[in-house]
Amino acid sequence: MPAAVKKDGLRAPLEQLTERVGPMPTSIASMVSLAVEVFTLSERLRFSIRPIQKIWAHSLRTGFLAALISEAHEAQSQIIWRSFAGGLLHDIGLLILLSQVSQQFFRVVELASIRGATLHIMEQEVYGTTHAELGAALLSRWGGEDALVHAVGFHDDPFRNDQTQFCSASAVYLANILDGGGIAQDCDGVLCAQGEAYLRRLGLLEQVPYWQARMREIQKVPIG
Ligand SMILES: [Fe+2]
Ligand SMILES: [Fe+2]
Repeated sequence: MPAAVKKDGLRAPLEQLTERVGPMPTSIASMVSLAVEVFTLSERLRFSIRPIQKIWAHSLRTGFLAALISEAHEAQSQIIWRSFAGGLLHDIGLLILLSQVSQQFFRVVELASIRGATLHIMEQEVYGTTHAELGAALLSRWGGEDALVHAVGFHDDPFRNDQTQFCSASAVYLANILDGGGIAQDCDGVLCAQGEAYLRRLGLLEQVPYWQARMREIQKVPIG
């Protein structure tokens, strides 16, 4: 098995979460297995190994923090596990682009950097879709539950979703921002005005410094 996926990066958070909130529901476990499969296979792509390992580490950190955020929100076990899986899978659409149009996609990332644009705006302009939408479509085709599909599809803009209460998409959104993104320009760690209003409405905005500190702790733990 390739380097990034075989290590203990996944095992430790899974064991800790299971101890605290009970076993992962089967429907979510099958999506976590899908994430591991897709990352493992993607690592065979010669030109994309490093970015894929970086996305794997970012996804794992995002999933772990998203689960902690949900737990602190006193969410049900199902939502906590969905937040974990949503974090793990939120950037799976990047793997589709890296595997299908790798060289062109690197240029799109570079162009976003030069223009100072967010990646999803450049993706929309070039491909007519985004990695969030591609990832959501993949999960939907693989039978992922709607709430998980939404957490992935709206990971950059959960305020566009019609879900107004705290949900796994809220936790994934905040955790993803706090880790700063797995690929250049995907997420620069800066909240937009709509994002700020969204977090304020959910009572999460004042908790941002606390979760920032927790993410810094998670980032110190080597993955793989
Ligand atoms: Fe993303
Ligand atoms: Fe991300």
